[in-house]
Amino acid sequence: MISLNCVFNFFKYNIIKESILEEYLMLEYNCRCTCASVIGEENGLNLELEFNNYESKISDIIKGLNQKKDKPGEWLQWMNLGYNEETVWYVKEFASLVENRFDNVVVLGIGGSALGGLAVTEAVLKPYWNLLPKEKRNNFPRIFFLDNIDPDTIIGILEVLDLSKTLVNVITKSGDTAETMSQYMIIKDLMEKELGDDYRKNIVVTTDKKMGILRQLAEQEGYKIFYVPDDVGGRFSVFSTVGLLPFALVGLDIDKLMNGVKDMDLELKSTDIHKNIAAQNALIHYLMDKQKGKKLTVIMPYSSRLRYIADWFAQLWAESLGKENNNLGEKVNVGLTPIKALGATDQHSQVQLYNDGPNDKLITFIRVKDFDNTVEIPNIFEYTGIGYLGGKTFNDLINAEADSTNVALIERKRPTITITLDKIDEYNIAQLLYMYEVQTAITGELYNINTFDQPSVEQSKNYLYALMGRAGYEGSAETIKAKLTTV
Ligand code: PA5
Repeated sequence: MISLNCVFNFFKYNIIKESILEEYLMLEYNCRCTCASVIGEENGLNLELEFNNYESKISDIIKGLNQKKDKPGEWLQWMNLGYNEETVWYVKEFASLVENRFDNVVVLGIGGSALGGLAVTEAVLKPYWNLLPKEKRNNFPRIFFLDNIDPDTIIGILEVLDLSKTLVNVITKSGDTAETMSQYMIIKDLMEKELGDDYRKNIVVTTDKKMGILRQLAEQEGYKIFYVPDDVGGRFSVFSTVGLLPFALVGLDIDKLMNGVKDMDLELKSTDIHKNIAAQNALIHYLMDKQKGKKLTVIMPYSSRLRYIADWFAQLWAESLGKENNNLGEKVNVGLTPIKALGATDQHSQVQLYNDGPNDKLITFIRVKDFDNTVEIPNIFEYTGIGYLGGKTFNDLINAEADSTNVALIERKRPTITITLDKIDEYNIAQLLYMYEVQTAITGELYNINTFDQPSVEQSKNYLYALMGRAGYEGSAETIKAKLTTV
């Protein structure tokens, strides 16, 4: 049963009946503080009116996405990933085959091939996972994401790792991204020198079935290969082999993760905007841009474990929605710039700007109802200025910080949204991420742009190939070098 109060109240989604699992609640979504009745006409929306105005457009968008999702070339296969039991089976089988063989998993990848893995593992694994002794990790390996080409970082990680005890997962959908392939070349070379022919057992590849150099190399070398499904772009790939393999290798419950995706997918199939939180959040972001000039969207989890969710969201949102042309070929230059923040840390950094700087942001708080631990502050300075903290908990404190920041923002008529997770686990994190994926797709339709391409990323990749002397790019190399001399 979905319990839904009207748009001016607190939205709480309870889908116990429809849920794949029993007795699970959905995340809570509260958009009340974007309403004109709360923050005034100049900055707030008349949500009841707008939900009615956009009811049929949103319904058409959701129907359209669900109708197109199986069509080749639409890049909507990510909407089917929650139901891919075969992949889950293969991933679990591989993870159990290599169980106890490795102390470390190193993921080589960048952008969509790294950020989902990083966000989910950082959220769901115990904090400081890599520093814990093995028995506190239930004998599962440590995990590292090498998502950059900083010379010092790669030397640093190589100093930390025993390569003979390391499984390297090379992830690149295109199979030839320069950053990932150069990381691979360095590590493969070292592994081969150190381990001899056995090095092949320490490398597993995740890439496209047909395209790319990596697939050919992996076949020649005889590595285990997992395929990224067709029509799943990097930033929408967290629930494919791209994310599932690293998750299974470090012992995350990927069945529970997939149940989170499926339950959220069931909810978001609703074509009624009044019952669909992804549609509501998409429309609010769109209208805040179009009607109220809010060009920046801040995502601010109040949990250190969720900090990389903000990074993942920033990529999803920026690469999907920042576009020069719309689907009619008109120049529109749209996109809301994502800003990553962390509560309570950034209250002592960015919040001054959010409160008193330009009123050009929509701020989303992500809160956690039940943390894994309850930490009481000891009552040791009773008769001093900090005596009020004694006997309270960190849990109360962090959520009070979110409340106080929210109230201060509303007083200054700044729109905010609050999303609350019951707890941090595979199920809840999957719901949140999948909700954001659907929200992004709906927002792209509202702007009438192609959400799933990334022409500027491709252009930078091509310029890089030219500058680094890749065959076939010689022509543009001279032009780029000429441009560089004029800047
Ligand atoms: O979302 C995207 O498509 C990009 O961010 C890619 O994930 C990123 O460029 C890495 O590409 P690849 O997986 O092909 O190496």
